[in-house]
Amino acid sequence: MTTSEENNAPIGFFDSGVGGLSVLKEVKKLLPNENYLYYGDTVHVPYGEKTKEQLISYSKNILKFFYQNGCKAVVMACNTTSSTVYNDIKNLYGFKLYPIVQSVAKVLSLLDVERLGIFATKSTINSHAYPNEISKFNSKIKVYGQYCPDWAGFVEKNIINEPQSIEVIKSDLDKMLKNKPDKIVLGCTHYPYLLPVLSEFAPENLFIDPAKPFAKYIADDLKSSKLLSTSTKSGNEEFYVSSNPQQFKKAAKMFYPIDKEVRLLRF
Ligand code: DGL
Repeated sequence: MTTSEENNAPIGFFDSGVGGLSVLKEVKKLLPNENYLYYGDTVHVPYGEKTKEQLISYSKNILKFFYQNGCKAVVMACNTTSSTVYNDIKNLYGFKLYPIVQSVAKVLSLLDVERLGIFATKSTINSHAYPNEISKFNSKIKVYGQYCPDWAGFVEKNIINEPQSIEVIKSDLDKMLKNKPDKIVLGCTHYPYLLPVLSEFAPENLFIDPAKPFAKYIADDLKSSKLLSTSTKSGNEEFYVSSNPQQFKKAAKMFYPIDKEVRLLRF
């Protein structure tokens, strides 16, 4: 690949479903001229309940797809794979691979907080990736992790405003609030979609969506690596899922309207 071809190659994004769109949205604001390929592994959602072996296998297939499509970089827009399998797969291909947890740990460590809550999936919490990564920069913050097994499913099924869902979300939040956190990180990319519900029961500024600092980290790194697109036009986006493209579009609609075809691609 020539330098210009590599600069204008797409950036891959992946997650178990619509969650990673909350990251893509922020990256696109900073880098509108890039081309994006998004893969939502909807047949395997929730990733938070899968074994490490399963997550390695899914991630390898997805990385191969991005490699075959000439991606210059891949964004792990998924806290679960970043926490559990990043180290196992980071060197498989030559492209840059950005894991969300490790990329935002420094910014979180600089927060003016003593007690930091983390809402995430079971696998992310059990991996201790957030406290481990944050303590590399600041060992004084006390981290309270809590997993919310139903939340990603509420988002994928588009049932966040159903009374039963609101009850579960409120009860999980009440449990976390007992730790008296100064801030709570939404450590699963599906959870920012629940902010309208969460902010009914606690101030919206209590919650931190890592997507913004993550997007800045990616943009800064691509720039310093001289890998930014040279195009002056708006970039292109392509979306792929491993099952049910219509449901993916429906779940994405409130937060990231997709007006083009979502393609079905199962490995
Ligand atoms: N959105 C993903 C994350 O950030 C995974 C959610 C799931 O499928 O359990 O962890």
